[in-house]
Amino acid sequence: MTHVSSAATTPSMCRCTKGGETYSRLAPLVEYLDSLTGRADLKVLTGLLESVQLTRSDIAPSCLFGQKGYKRNTIRKTDWYELLALCWRSADRTPIHDHRGVSCAFKVIEGEGTEIRFRETPSGLICPAATILMQPGYVCAAEDSDIHEVANMQAPGIDLITLHIYSPPIKSMNVYEFTQPVSEHCKDAYAAPGEAHG
Ligand SMILES: [Fe+2]
Repeated sequence: MTHVSSAATTPSMCRCTKGGETYSRLAPLVEYLDSLTGRADLKVLTGLLESVQLTRSDIAPSCLFGQKGYKRNTIRKTDWYELLALCWRSADRTPIHDHRGVSCAFKVIEGEGTEIRFRETPSGLICPAATILMQPGYVCAAEDSDIHEVANMQAPGIDLITLHIYSPPIKSMNVYEFTQPVSEHCKDAYAAPGEAHG
């Protein structure tokens, strides 16, 4: 495991519909979330997300894209959860991260997402363990110690929209690097012909 930093997240503005009501198709999900007095059960979150039928048009006011990287659009937030729409342009990606202390589940609403899962090794390095292509409707649930990266690897012009629940809201997360710097000696061995020193 290569823990490089602890990145704080910045709360987004709530983009609930008029009057503070959430989107109608999210009502069953929000009813459960609003009843929370502690951390949400991951299996319940997964089941509720699987049952939600949603398209971009259902949450259009929360489908805003960023200029630099994916954009987190908070739909509703309490002390015990945050519900967000994440909007990804082509090549937008998360850092490699885990979710220690937080129940995390999300559903692909539009486009194809890619999840790369990593495992820790005795060496301290992390190793890619699986790559999952996530079609619309796919629900991903992450346990505390799961290490993963999510990205929009589709061609330019093709968006990815995902609906996320974090319980409780993320305050910080552990971020990892796939590779560590190699020694100068090792780099030399890979230098162009005539430039190698050993
Ligand atoms: Fe994640």
